Amino acid sequence: MRVGSKGALVTAAVWLSSVAFIGGQASPAPVQAQSQLRAETVFKNIIGLRGIPVDEFMGTMGIFSAATGLNCTDCHVDNGTWDGYALDDNPRKQTARRMVTMMAEINTQYFGGRQVVTCFSCHRGSNRPTVTPSLTLLYGAPPPEDLDVLLPPAPPGTPTAAQILDTYLQAVGSAAAAKLTSYVVRGTYSGYGPEGFPRPMEIYAKAPNQKTIVIRDKEAGDNVTVFNGTAGWISAPFRPVAVMELHGAELDSAGADAELMFPANVRNALTSLRTGVDFINERSVLAVQGNKGNALITLYFDEETGLLTRLVRSTPSPVGRLPVQLDYSDYREVAGVTLPFKFTMTWLDGRSNFELEAIQPNVAIPESRFARPAPAKPY
Ligand code: HEC
Ligand code: HEC
Repeated sequence: MRVGSKGALVTAAVWLSSVAFIGGQASPAPVQAQSQLRAETVFKNIIGLRGIPVDEFMGTMGIFSAATGLNCTDCHVDNGTWDGYALDDNPRKQTARRMVTMMAEINTQYFGGRQVVTCFSCHRGSNRPTVTPSLTLLYGAPPPEDLDVLLPPAPPGTPTAAQILDTYLQAVGSAAAAKLTSYVVRGTYSGYGPEGFPRPMEIYAKAPNQKTIVIRDKEAGDNVTVFNGTAGWISAPFRPVAVMELHGAELDSAGADAELMFPANVRNALTSLRTGVDFINERSVLAVQGNKGNALITLYFDEETGLLTRLVRSTPSPVGRLPVQLDYSDYREVAGVTLPFKFTMTWLDGRSNFELEAIQPNVAIPESRFARPAPAKPY
């Protein structure tokens, strides 16, 4: 039996869409201010996943849902309040707890502690892993495989990371990119499932690494994600933590996201660069993967145009990596810099489309735009 379905995951997507925005965060001095905000401090009944920050904890719930094809309320008790999530009355929640222990033991005992077996390794989107090899799969057309977040080694002859990044800078216009100091975007956002209706969206970006995204919703309150250069927050309606501060790898990932809003930063944003080759939508791409603190960032550049086609940010968690994928298209020139006017963000249970209507380059953005956001409220 397979309980999960696209429909069932809608709730998961709604809860977690804010998590998706976490994106990259900058690495400099890790912000410890709220590091005491561990999952067990905020939630009532945490046993296996103690000691991790709240933002990472919410990510693990996304992994649970995506790996098993189960909705939040398939494992929890839906009594209309967050208190229901703390109850242990749903046997699936207990099973999931045992699975966390089992997964950790398998990795410790058989794989020297490397996280090679995760919920997804066995479940692959189904609540009951299959037992018998599938003859349909064996003889049918193979389903499209998503790239794993860890890049396979590049074949000989692949350009170096420096060459790929230089080609990208030439393609976007490197002289103009060096002069881009800020920009303000206006456009629309449409989410997934019940969040599918288009809403006004704004992005404020200031070099070298500040970024705020505001998704407007008068009825429920705005969804705001901020990275101010060192700290980051997500404020969104209907969340267990009204204004969630980002930590660790999630903060690193948001920092990388903010920094990479400015193409001129691409050479220095990441460390330990390696390269790879692949295909996206049947076009060959050159990949550059690197680290930003504890986040792993992979950039895929179209081999022919040199432009950025895809960016994947992933952060570790006790139950597997949390990937967020951005696919860019509709490149147009703004103040001599070629920038994407469309992007799609895909993460464990959801997909959001951002369509940009206007980009105003080099405008003054008040510092208050990058301050800790207030809790969401209707207006
Ligand atoms: C596969 C089962 C499963 C799914 C699906 C799942 N959870 Fe959980 N959830 C758990 C388990 C197990 C715990 C307890 C973790 C622990 O003990 O460390 C938990 C704990 C929680 C808590 C903490 C409650 C408290 O106060 O103690 C919240 C909040 C939560 N989940 C939210 C969600 C949301 C939102 C979703 C959907 C995106 C979700 N969960 C999906 C199994 C699941
Ligand atoms: C080594 C393989 C393996 C791994 C890793 C694994 N599972 Fe499972 N899981 C299973 C199998 C097999 C079953 C079905 C057991 C049965 O039929 O009695 C199952 C059942 C479950 C169920 C009960 C589903 C239902 O509808 O009753 C939940 C919930 C679950 N797993 C969650 C998880 C989570 C969360 C993780 C990661 C922390 C995880 N599993 C990791 C193999 C695995």
